[in-house]
Amino acid sequence: MIRLENIHVRHKARGGGLFRHDAVHALTVASVEVAKGETLGLVGESGSGKSTLARVLTGLQKPTEGTVRFRGEDLWRLPAARRRKEFGTAVGIVFQDPSTALNPRMRVGRILRDPLDVHRRGTEREREERVEELLDLVGLPGHTLRALPGQLSGGQQQRVAIARALALEPDVIVADEPTSALDVSVRAQVLNLLMDLRARLGLGMVFISHDIQTVRHLSDRLAVLYLGRIVEEGPARAVAAGPAHPYTEALFSATPSLLEHTQRIILTGPVPSAVNPPSGCRFRTRCWKADDACATAFPAAEGTADGHRRHCVHPLTEDAPALSPSGPTPVSIARSTS
Ligand SMILES: Nc1ncnc2c1ncn2[C@@H]1O[C@H](COP(=O)(O)OP(=O)(O)O)[C@@H](O)[C@H]1O
Ligand SMILES: [Mg+2]
Repeated sequence: MIRLENIHVRHKARGGGLFRHDAVHALTVASVEVAKGETLGLVGESGSGKSTLARVLTGLQKPTEGTVRFRGEDLWRLPAARRRKEFGTAVGIVFQDPSTALNPRMRVGRILRDPLDVHRRGTEREREERVEELLDLVGLPGHTLRALPGQLSGGQQQRVAIARALALEPDVIVADEPTSALDVSVRAQVLNLLMDLRARLGLGMVFISHDIQTVRHLSDRLAVLYLGRIVEEGPARAVAAGPAHPYTEALFSATPSLLEHTQRIILTGPVPSAVNPPSGCRFRTRCWKADDACATAFPAAEGTADGHRRHCVHPLTEDAPALSPSGPTPVSIARSTS
């Protein structure tokens, strides 16, 4: 459906000061693919480039370099009208914070009706019916149509945002941390709604989160971002069973499941600036396996036949696990046994 090839996104650095004229390297040589009906999970800490990737995937952001392919065609070479009509209706996006994603002055009915009007879907009557159907799909009562977003709870607002994303019957939904701005008590409901809709409508999905444990269970494939670089990618099961990149291992151990990871890896030191990222492997300044070789060049992808790839000079393998009890004490990490 959508393929990103060697995408770079550089933003102008915000604000003044020392780095006034510098670029923020939000994404560097990122390549991912979303197949029909498949769920791609995207994880990484805050600032790793997840939202930038979401914006590139949905055509909201034109990459500085690289190619976005939509059903094989180069998206940014399509005439603007076709791009809006074909791509704009095939891909929907759900943002992190529904209180800023919905126009506070529009009633819910208008919000859901808007994409149908813009794309001239069906007759007046059909549009009205579709709006009611959308409300029903996301489990909201009919009177919600007359409400303003501000009169709804965060969970209800996110349901409206999901309904809006589905209005034009997209093939793919990109959900950018769709529950992290919500009350803990409603997160599971909204997540379940998304998963239920995915199954019922046969949607492809890009599910973005900073929580690798949630993502692994919801995704077919997993991609791990660190400072704008994809450092590991593969079938979710394979990545979870045997993370190859130390950063992926650290993410898993930060939120341990009951049976695995009795030892926690705690990353120390600051995340380096995306204005001036480290040479070579960007994770090396926080990695307990890093040596001089890691500073020379970003490691090329190496992987297995099932498409499990990693970019690492010293990947974790069977013979060199992350935290061998008899091994040397890692330098840049603290260990605690839980
Ligand atoms: N419009 C922008 N202008 C300048 N810098 C930006 C802009 N958007 C994002 N960035 C920077 O790009 C990097 C990646 O941001 P983002 O994609 O939002 O990451 P994430 O969603 O993983 O937190 C960050 O360093 C962020 O500060
Ligand atoms: Mg984000």
